[in-house]
Amino acid sequence: MTTQHIKTDDVKPVSENHVKIFDTTLRDGEQAPGFSMSTDAKLIVARTLSDLNVDIIEAGFAAASPGDAAAIRTIASEIEGPTIGSLARLNKNDIDAAAHAIEPAQQKRIHTFIGTSPLHRDAKLKMSKEEILKVISEIVAYASSACDDIEFSPEDAIRTEREFLLEAVEAAIEAGATTINIPDTVGYTTPEEITDLFRFLKENAKGADRAIFSVHCHDDLGMAVANSLAAVRGGARQIECAINGIGERAGNCSMEEAVMALATRRDFFNVSTQIDTTKIFAASTTLARVTHNPIPRNKAIVGKNAFAHEAGIHQHGVLANKRTYEIMDAEAVGMPSNSIVLGKHSGKHAVAARVKALGFNVSKQKIEDIFPAFKRLADTCREVTDADLVRIVTGNAETD
Ligand code: KIV
Ligand code: ZN
Repeated sequence: MTTQHIKTDDVKPVSENHVKIFDTTLRDGEQAPGFSMSTDAKLIVARTLSDLNVDIIEAGFAAASPGDAAAIRTIASEIEGPTIGSLARLNKNDIDAAAHAIEPAQQKRIHTFIGTSPLHRDAKLKMSKEEILKVISEIVAYASSACDDIEFSPEDAIRTEREFLLEAVEAAIEAGATTINIPDTVGYTTPEEITDLFRFLKENAKGADRAIFSVHCHDDLGMAVANSLAAVRGGARQIECAINGIGERAGNCSMEEAVMALATRRDFFNVSTQIDTTKIFAASTTLARVTHNPIPRNKAIVGKNAFAHEAGIHQHGVLANKRTYEIMDAEAVGMPSNSIVLGKHSGKHAVAARVKALGFNVSKQKIEDIFPAFKRLADTCREVTDADLVRIVTGNAETD
């Protein structure tokens, strides 16, 4: 039993129109093959998440490995602002490991889960419905005695019978869960179905008014963002998402896409987030750099082509009025305007601005130091790309 009760002031009143952004880049995102991060890398990403002003950073899964527990604790000690969370299976050892890892944070959350669908109950857990309800009541209460911000997820909620899902959600709220997250663990749902499910749970779950409902979508059918937004239409007020949409298999809901959809179509959704959207490009490029996974050129919001126009008809339209082919501004997501191309005629101001936009926090002296390497490269090509600049800043230019 954890001896110390963790106080947190996260359970602050939020307006009905505020959608919390729960970022799981460092947990679900990191679980994807090819995205493992060292503690240092996780800390760099956590800083960019804090700059973005996300509400919650899920920093890892403390019981998964001593290294992950240490990384969560480092993030909990160093990052101010967002709530810091750890994932935990629904057992006391995992809850204790999570509570210990997040302990240094100012605001902290334990996110605990158990599979509820017939497949998970029968094939994986070998537990009856009654046994699952019992463990939810017991362990959520145990977690609540350790930390007053508890999130509960019925894993594979979408493929769980509605009546049983309702019972599981009610048991978790009754035991002290303050956030109820509904995961589409295998990316199976559709927008209409998930809107309806959220309406059903919010209208029918006893104690629903005491909890924030959250959505966690995977992208197996390419619908994670659409489904997350549809859940918001059904009453979800927290979206779980990851930078560049990384996560198990095809990934999680992409943070930049969900946030910019809510911002650009505020007229439709009538909700807002607290994200500083001008930090999105820096967060995206930082993650790509530390995980060595480049952003696809055509990636929505942050890809190189997202605000680029090559076709004559489009160029003509954009020159007359950029809204003809751009529904948002590159600057709104922190992307340097597409008209700025770095080449041999560029000066230090342009280089410094691009370096900053790419997520680096460097001194004037560093710009002076890298400028000769930049000029040498610029003399040999038509354009110095962002990737080139990253190599120069990180000192890898001459080796390539
Ligand atoms: O996809 C999922 O079900 C999860 C849970 C742990 C929330 O990641
Ligand atoms: Zn997931």
